[in-house]
Amino acid sequence: MSNKTNLIVMIKKITIEYKLIASIDLLEEEDKNLLHKAMEATNNAYSPYSKFNVGCAVLQADGNITTGTNQENIAYPSGLCAERVAIFSASSLRPNVPIKSIAIVAKNRHKRFCEAMPCGACLQVLSEYEQKFKQKIKIVAYSNNGTVLIFDGVNKLLPFAFASEFV
Ligand code: THU
Repeated sequence: MSNKTNLIVMIKKITIEYKLIASIDLLEEEDKNLLHKAMEATNNAYSPYSKFNVGCAVLQADGNITTGTNQENIAYPSGLCAERVAIFSASSLRPNVPIKSIAIVAKNRHKRFCEAMPCGACLQVLSEYEQKFKQKIKIVAYSNNGTVLIFDGVNKLLPFAFASEFV
């Protein structure tokens, strides 16, 4: 008998649950306010190369909101996404206050709001703060045509995050 037939292969599946909200107006007040702050922040992006302005707003448990925008650089990898600018800034300002939620939106080169989602590196960073505070971070992401996606925790988008217990 070949080794192959002795192998047990398990195909596992995961499903992602998230909310699709038909419009910003239908959001809970706290989420709506956070998303509006992220929208305002898009004006502060430094994105001369992509002309794609990303705005983020991070809400901490004490009610403070910290915004962030993407910061680009001619040495391209030196730039940073809006999500990490916002969350690192919040953590620097109030290191001991848990992070409740983050809102994300982008404005394209035609100055129209458009969908944005945290990239893998930003999800990894968000995941670390969930572990630090043992509290899920809600992700509120502007999506197509004014709809909004809500993910209850980073693991919905990064279920196999690298974690401190691996090390
Ligand atoms: N960007 C973000 O700010 N957040 C993301 O999650 C993905 C992409 C920025 C990086 C770059 O300045 C521009 O969007 C275009 O990729």
